[in-house]
Amino acid sequence: MTTRPSAPTTAPGSAASLTADGGTTARGTAASRRTVLAATAGGLAAAGLAAAPAAADSAGRTRGPVREPFGRLADGTRVDRWTLECGGTRLKVLSYGGIVQSLELPDRHGRYANVSLGFADLDSYVADSPYFGALIGRYGNRIAEGRFTLDGTTYQLPINDGDHSLHGGDRGFDKRVWDVEPFTSPAGVGLTLRYVSGDGEMGYPGALATRVDYTLTRRGDWRIDYAATASAPTVVNLTSHVYFNLAGEGSGDIYDHRLRLAASRYTPVDAGLIPTGELAPVARTPFDFRRGKSVGADLRENHEQLLYGKGIDHNLVLDKGITRAPKRVATVREPSSGRTMTIATTEPGLQFYSGNFLDGSFAGTSGRVYRQGDGFCLETQHFPDSPNQPSFPSTVLRPGDTYRSTTVHSFAAA
Ligand code: BGC
Repeated sequence: MTTRPSAPTTAPGSAASLTADGGTTARGTAASRRTVLAATAGGLAAAGLAAAPAAADSAGRTRGPVREPFGRLADGTRVDRWTLECGGTRLKVLSYGGIVQSLELPDRHGRYANVSLGFADLDSYVADSPYFGALIGRYGNRIAEGRFTLDGTTYQLPINDGDHSLHGGDRGFDKRVWDVEPFTSPAGVGLTLRYVSGDGEMGYPGALATRVDYTLTRRGDWRIDYAATASAPTVVNLTSHVYFNLAGEGSGDIYDHRLRLAASRYTPVDAGLIPTGELAPVARTPFDFRRGKSVGADLRENHEQLLYGKGIDHNLVLDKGITRAPKRVATVREPSSGRTMTIATTEPGLQFYSGNFLDGSFAGTSGRVYRQGDGFCLETQHFPDSPNQPSFPSTVLRPGDTYRSTTVHSFAAA
């Protein structure tokens, strides 16, 4: 597990907390420090970065969860935004879609940036969002032709992605307003999000009572615990659709991020991005991240699978399989900021999506336009189209059983 580096000891906004390159230093005279402060504050503002408090204060600070209004849906339903901070990590979450609107992390100098792509206002999320930051349900990723048979009955889901059903249909969990309750525990601070999906909603059988806990731990990890129970046999595959850019959202592409994945196989797909059923070795393919390489290293290889996904948009088969406790499966490091994220999960699969369908048609939270490859998703999950793939781990949930899944994001900067 990675750990957060020891925090710098400078005060927020003090001259000593800022240098021309934004780093921390305690050297120099008071006058020269003031000059540096003024020059740097301008530089940071020009770069779109607020002069952030030094990590020293925030590392020890616990804030919130605090609620504020974030707008209303067309039918008048109020949407809230919750802000929380713990262990140096800051999170903003919407009751609409359980959306992570902002995830702020310090870089190696203690400077904060929002590393998650999104929008500044509710209307943009409602109008058209490629699932920025959202909770995905009932079924993360695709179900072929939106159809599956369970216990002899065939169910038809909405078709919203070519010939297929994607991310729970056209009004999935990402477009629902969740009940949100804040909590503080010895582990940290967090939010419990609840949503009950009615029997037959989006074509899925049974009612599904869903609970998702977002916890910011004392060491600044962001932990997600999912749980669900059903009133009739159904299928479930919940995930989180945060697009990360560890250099900061709107700062450009993610091709220099270095990614390491503990996955020796992946699930190849057809032209509609439906798995063929094969578990193919990653060896000698662009999908081999076992030793770590930059995301962009092999993205332009003439490989049929990359053509289908317009880049990587594939489920990696995690070597550890399904585990009771979250196990580390992925590490991403962004060299210029030094920010590192580690993902541990109980799930057997990880959809690595290199932001291929971002096409310059959205202006994000800070007003910068997102283009292809400006963010990446690492969606912990069961494999796509499992309800139609008998050899894949089952996604069936029966009454009396509880669906559980946990994913932990740990952060560091060095
Ligand atoms: C899918 C992509 C899809 C994206 C939505 C990802 O989880 O794998 O194919 O385009 O979500 O924007």
